[in-house]
Order: sequence, then structure tokens, then C-alpha cells
Amino acid sequence: MIKFPKDFVWGVATSSYQIEGAVNEDGRTPSIWDTFSKTEGKTYQGHTGDVACDHYHRYKEDVEIMKEIGVKAYRFSIAWPRIFPEEGKYNSKGIDFYKRLVDELLKKDIMPVVTIYHWDLPQWAYEKGGGWLNRDSVKWFAEYATKLYEELGDVIPLWITHNEPWCASILSYGIGEHAPGHKDYREALIAAHHILLSHGEAVKAFREMNIKGSEVGITLNLTPVYPASEKEEDKLAAQYADGFSNRWFLDPIFKGNYPQDMMELYSKIIGEFDFIKEGDLETISVPIDFLGVNYYTRNIIKYNENSMLKAENVPGPGKRTEMGWEISPESLHDILKRLDREYTKLPIYITENGAACKDEVTEDGRVHDYERIEYIKEHLKAAAKFIEEGGNLKGYFVWSLMDNFEWAHGYSKRFGIVYVDYKTQKRILKDSALWYKGVIQRSVIEE
Ligand code: FCB
Repeated sequence: MIKFPKDFVWGVATSSYQIEGAVNEDGRTPSIWDTFSKTEGKTYQGHTGDVACDHYHRYKEDVEIMKEIGVKAYRFSIAWPRIFPEEGKYNSKGIDFYKRLVDELLKKDIMPVVTIYHWDLPQWAYEKGGGWLNRDSVKWFAEYATKLYEELGDVIPLWITHNEPWCASILSYGIGEHAPGHKDYREALIAAHHILLSHGEAVKAFREMNIKGSEVGITLNLTPVYPASEKEEDKLAAQYADGFSNRWFLDPIFKGNYPQDMMELYSKIIGEFDFIKEGDLETISVPIDFLGVNYYTRNIIKYNENSMLKAENVPGPGKRTEMGWEISPESLHDILKRLDREYTKLPIYITENGAACKDEVTEDGRVHDYERIEYIKEHLKAAAKFIEEGGNLKGYFVWSLMDNFEWAHGYSKRFGIVYVDYKTQKRILKDSALWYKGVIQRSVIEE
């Protein structure tokens, strides 16, 4: 039996575009994900977030479900184009939805945790010079964040500026798999820099407002990297892959600089770093209150002379989820230890962890998702080990409360602990939700 601290924050997570639907309601204008998902060939079978889980209309039922599971905290994101449907034009109807949601959560004693940006950049911002490519995006984001603090500041105990800057920049502007679908490495690094800078500005704005009882941080997706062999070239490749996925974001936030080895490697690919201005790194590294970590898998890397990063992924030996991601709970422990050793003693929250499984409703009307239970259990054990060793881990959020729009994969991947029948919008608690309920009740996992 493994026991968790009494005040451990047991949560679930979602994001706006993945669950809300109601894309044209109460003044919302399109985001880059509306545009992208409606562009042929970008998402699985052309799926979009138009309806998604219809959470915008069903939030009360969804909060009721969270209460039933017994979660202590709910991490959701706010849709920027609901709040600023046009540049500089504030829409109070947009924030009203989140106020209703927060009221409902508070009534049921569930702590609201807000992500300010989970990838649904307003289309208007994209039209002005490519969104995050334009340095003005930093100013737009700070204005948006400030408005949210004004409206909801002290009722939200934890504010997360950004979700996974790696995905919002590299995957979106470099690899092209996510909106806006660009494939330009220089752009990817410009976007990454502006996103990080906007994080720093949003933290500064938060401090200036002196919001009582609330904290601010950022969520990074971290992928521990291991060399495929003891060969020096594989080790070097792994070092670059680590720089690419992890250090490029951790170092500026916690050390106030970009990693030197990566600067050298990237400068051969993108040329000048003229988009980094004096004072930027001071802003990016302003102190935060906590770090959010999203963890799903690890990477094993071998050297490849022809690849841009001199690195290539090789499949690991572990079992895989429906995403094809190798299951490796030990690597979660590794990355937490490393954060503690090399980066920060600040409180850490695992703001996302979970698995896509082949879920089916069986004749008994239930969803027996044993593989997901196994996945979550093993990762919680790794988390518990870190706490036992003195690590400052304060909470864990399952990704996700319910099945939803899994970006380029559309509705073909199910991550929820609650099943969503997209035809009827009926929700069914999967076995994992019932199991999680038991874990939360006793703050214990049985081995
Ligand atoms: C993360 C995203 C989240 C979800 C999970 C599976 O990268 O933050 O929205 O899609 O992956």
C-alpha cells in the first residue's frame, strides 16, 4: 500500500477547444484550431471541435461527474477568442461562462486551476503576422492574462500561463502537425521565444496585481531522453534530443539562458538569433511559484548524421498506448528527480498524465479500461517514490476527465476516465474513474 500526503491535490484536466464546442456562441470568434481542423487533411477524418463534448452547455453535469469521482481540483483552460474576439475588444460574455463554471466548482468544493493558453490562439492574432511569430503577441497575451486576473484573480488558486510551449511552437510552427501547421524551424524558435517571453510578462503582470492567495506557474511537457547505446555518438544525439525537448524550455525559465550547445546547433539551421532582445531572458526567468509537468512517455535516441538534430528515435522495449507512446513510469521518476537536482525545489504538479486506450462500452453498459488503470497506477507509484525521497510534488491531474478532441487525431483517441458517446453526448464513468475515486477517498494506492 502506498500512501499519499493528506493535502495531495487529486485532479483531472481538460482544455477549452478539446471539450467546449459552442464555437460561435456568445461572441467567440475562430481560433487557429478552428481554421486548421477545417482545412482538408489536417485532422483525422476532418474532425473539428465544433461540438466536441458540448461542455459549454453541459458544464454543470460535468462538474457533477467530477464531484461523483471526488476530485479535489479541476484544471481547465480559457478560450482566448471568447475573451478577446478581436484585438483589444473585450467580451464580457466570454468570461461569464468561466465564472459560471468556477461558481459551480466552488459550490462543490473543487479547486479551479486555470491554464491561460492551451493552443487556441485567436485567428485575428494569427492574421497579424502569423500569431506567435509577431513580437506583438507578447503584448496581446499579457493584456489577455491581465484581464483574466482582474476578473477571476483570487478565486483561482493556481494560474498556469502556458500549456506545453514545445507543442505550441515546435510542433505547430516547425513540424506542422498542429495549428497553424507551418514547417519552418526558424519560425518554430521565434514562436517558442515569444511564447516564453509572454509567459514572463504574464507572471510580471500577476505580481504587479498582488493577487492574494493565488500562485502562478507554467506547464511544460517533458520527455526524458536516453541514448540507445553507450556509444559516444548516441550520447551526443541524446544530449541534443534532450536540448530540443526539455532544456530549450527549462533553461530559460530556471537559469535565464538558452542552452549553449543548442544555440550552436540551431544557429547552423536558422541563422541569427536576432529575435532575442536585450532583457528578454530576465523576463522569461522571473520567479514563478510552481512548475507543471505533463508527462506521457520517454524517447530512446540514436545518432543519425542526416537528421537536423543528429538524432533519431528508436522504439523502446516497453508496451505502448493507443498513441503508440511507450509506457515508462520509471522515466517519470527520473525526470522529477532531475528537476529537483538540476532545476528547482519549487512545488511541482503533474498537470497531465494518462493514456489513450481502445475503450468500448460492453454489454453491461460499462467500460473496462484496465490498461488505463494500470498506467495511472504505475505512474502514481513513480510519483509516490519521488515524494518519499523528499521531492516537492504537490498534486496529480489525470489527462483527461473525459474523452475529447485529441487535436490532429480528432475523436479517434480516447484519453478520458469518463467515456463520451459523441452521438448522444452521454457520459459513462469508466472503470478507471471508479478506481480513481477509491484512490482519492483513501489517498492510497494498493500495489
Ligand atoms: C498533451 C496536451 C493535451 C492532450 C494530451 C494527450 O500534449 O496538452 O491537450 O492532447 O497531450
